[in-house]
Amino acid sequence: MFKRVLIKVSGEALGNDDGRGLNNEKLQKVAEQIAKLSEQNIECVVVIGAGNFWRGKYGYEYIERTTSDHMGMLATVLNGLALQACLEAKGKNVRMQTAIEMKEVAEMYIRRKAMRHLEKGRIVILGCGTGNPYFTTDTAAAQRALELDCDAILLAKNIDGVYDKDPNEFKDVKKYDELTYMQVINEGLKVMDTTAITLCMENNVPILVFALNEENSLLRAVNGENLGTIIH
Ligand code: GTP
Repeated sequence: MFKRVLIKVSGEALGNDDGRGLNNEKLQKVAEQIAKLSEQNIECVVVIGAGNFWRGKYGYEYIERTTSDHMGMLATVLNGLALQACLEAKGKNVRMQTAIEMKEVAEMYIRRKAMRHLEKGRIVILGCGTGNPYFTTDTAAAQRALELDCDAILLAKNIDGVYDKDPNEFKDVKKYDELTYMQVINEGLKVMDTTAITLCMENNVPILVFALNEENSLLRAVNGENLGTIIH
């Protein structure tokens, strides 16, 4: 049983059916699942993506890369604020922190403050990734999981685990129940980018990949149910 987890919510998991925009129904469901976890006294750190609004790579051909990545970081704040508001409406104590200073909007990410919030049972939402261009929010998730002593990364996706090929494109696909970090890297499986996987591998942080839209999947994954794929 985990005491503290990092939940990586992809932007697409909050988007409409085409993965874009902010879908209230999905937002409510994600918030509900995180709230339930917190009610079980599991300390929750949430790193939020932004693929529903912007990904750095959308602009690489016509916008200078650092700027495009900064746009992506700002987009994570939109999702983070929405999730914060939604969790608060469910009566949860939440603190959003950002890796880029925007003090009128949220407090800065300060590790010791984040730890204190967690110890007090508050849900901590982290926006702006690592605050650096060239790093994805997956890498931010891995890095913050280490920095904040999380027992595991829960990779909440639109899809229910890791497959050998994209199940949206191919029919003869195989789902993995279990994988090693090296397998993910060597087989080029698209779970997290290599920087993120390497960080997890070097520091033995297990990654649980599962679908957010399944009933209570977050809670069930944390309780050891074999829902999706575990990478360790
Ligand atoms: P404790 O120190 O444990 O009591 O934590 P706390 O977060 O309740 O206290 P604090 O006085 O730091 O924060 C009160 C409220 O202000 C919380 O909702 C914080 O998220 C928010 N807050 C704190 N610092 C900042 C900041 O720099 N910018 C913004 N926008 N909000 C902040």
